[in-house]
Order: sequence, then C-alpha cells, then structure tokens
Amino acid sequence: MSYKKGEFLYEGKAKTIYSVLSDENFVWLEFKNSLTAFNAQKKGEFEGKGKINLEITNHIFKYLQSNDIKTHWVQEMSESEVVCQKLSIIPLEVVVRNITAGSLAKKFNLKEGVQLKKPLVEFFYKKDELGDPFISDEQALVLGFVESQKTLDDLKSRALKINELLIQFFDKCEISLVDFKLEFGFDLKNNILLADEITPDSCRLWNKKTGEKMDKDRFRQDLGLVKESYEEILLKIQQNWSL
Ligand SMILES: Nc1ncnc2c1ncn2[C@@H]1O[C@H](COP(=O)(O)OP(=O)(O)O)[C@@H](O)[C@H]1O
Ligand SMILES: [Mg+2]
Repeated sequence: MSYKKGEFLYEGKAKTIYSVLSDENFVWLEFKNSLTAFNAQKKGEFEGKGKINLEITNHIFKYLQSNDIKTHWVQEMSESEVVCQKLSIIPLEVVVRNITAGSLAKKFNLKEGVQLKKPLVEFFYKKDELGDPFISDEQALVLGFVESQKTLDDLKSRALKINELLIQFFDKCEISLVDFKLEFGFDLKNNILLADEITPDSCRLWNKKTGEKMDKDRFRQDLGLVKESYEEILLKIQQNWSL
C-alpha cells in the first residue's frame, strides 16, 4: 500500500500528526527530536531522538501485535515517520506500575524502587493545561470522558495484559519495567486499539544489573547521558528481539 503525506493536523510535545492523502482511515505521525518534562515546563532535544523512539515503538508494537494486542501501527514511511490507523483518542492516560517511582512515590511519600504487591493501573485525565490530573473511574464516567464502566474495565485488562508482555520483553534485555503510560482510541468501527507510542519517554526502565535509570528521568533529573541511554535501550532491543 502506498501512502502520501497530507496536511498538517496537529502537533504534540513529541510528534506531529498529518493526514494521509485521500484516506480518512489513517494518520501520518512524525516523531520529533524534542524532549519535554513536567508538562512541557522543561524543554530539550537531541539529534536522532525521533528516529530512536520510532524504532523502539516499532519493535514493541510489532511484538505486541504478534501477541494478539491490537495497535494503531500500520507502516513505517521513513526513519522518523509512520502511518497509523486514525483513532479518536480516549482522553485518559492509562498508567501501569510495577515498582514505586515518580508521582506515586511522591504522593504517598514512598521510597522509590519497591516492588508493588501486584501491578497497579491508574487513569490520568489527558489535559496538559491541568497537568494531567489523576481521575477516578466515577469521575471519568460522570464527566463523560468514557461511556461506560465496561470501557474502563476493558482498558484496565488490556493494560495489564500489555504489562505482562512488556515485562517479558524488557526482561530479555535485562531491563526492569518500573511503570509506563498507554493511550488508547477508537477506530471508525468503534474497536479499541492501542495508540501513540511506547518509548523511554513513556516508560520507566532501569538497568537490571546496575539499577541505573535509562529513561526520561535522566532528562527530568539532569542525570546526563540521555541520548546514550535511549540508544542503549534500542541496542538491547535489537540484540534480543528480531523484527
Ligand atoms: N492513531 C492516532 N490517531 C490520532 N491521534 C493520535 C494517534 N496516536 C497518537 N495520537 C495523538 O497524537 C498527539 C501527538 O502526540 P504527542 O506529541 O505524543 O502528544 P502529547 O504532547 O499529548 O504527548 C497526541 O494528542 C496523541 O494522543
Ligand atoms: Mg505524548
């Protein structure tokens, strides 16, 4: 199938979205080199970041698809561009946590790095202006961000299944999956698909041997070697998983 890049639609912090010429079913995503944290209050970038994140997502989404997870990923068009199914994005960030870190550790004054009794799924309302606040099931339902509890339960069970698969995926790379964020959306036939990206921007990934942080926390916390860590994650994936 040959796709042609259409008009600019919108731009987020990490990707720019274009239409696909004469096909309403698809969008054209361009992965940018920019890096933001704390709801874009902190900005940075590095050469090659878009390429690395696209390639990491490409590996992961193909792995998930081969394990019966439906995703929006369709076809890579260049090193930093991909055609995906066009979705109506559900405005909830679905976060799964295996180990304490980030906002959970802060909110409850917990030590970082403690294994949770079982994976924890949380919803956050996707709204930069509000700083993506935590949202309860009741709030999501009553405020109309999703139609039914069934949809919320569906999102949770998909997220937990993806968590199991990703733990295995990263385990093979000797990386532990601390937590991650997912986005889902509806296609034109109302099927729920996994959307967006899975990258070191959206996951916390720690080197199993050394305990070192390899993800966007290196940028958030000024730990240095950001580009090198992203490259190392991709290299480990390429060495352990063939496409
Ligand atoms: N398949 C898709 N169809 C439509 N929109 C999508 C799709 N996948 C991701 N998006 C949206 O593209 C936008 C740009 O992505 P990104 O730059 O990561 O945004 P953000 O600044 O919200 O993190 C986001 O709003 C994301 O939800
Ligand atoms: Mg994003």
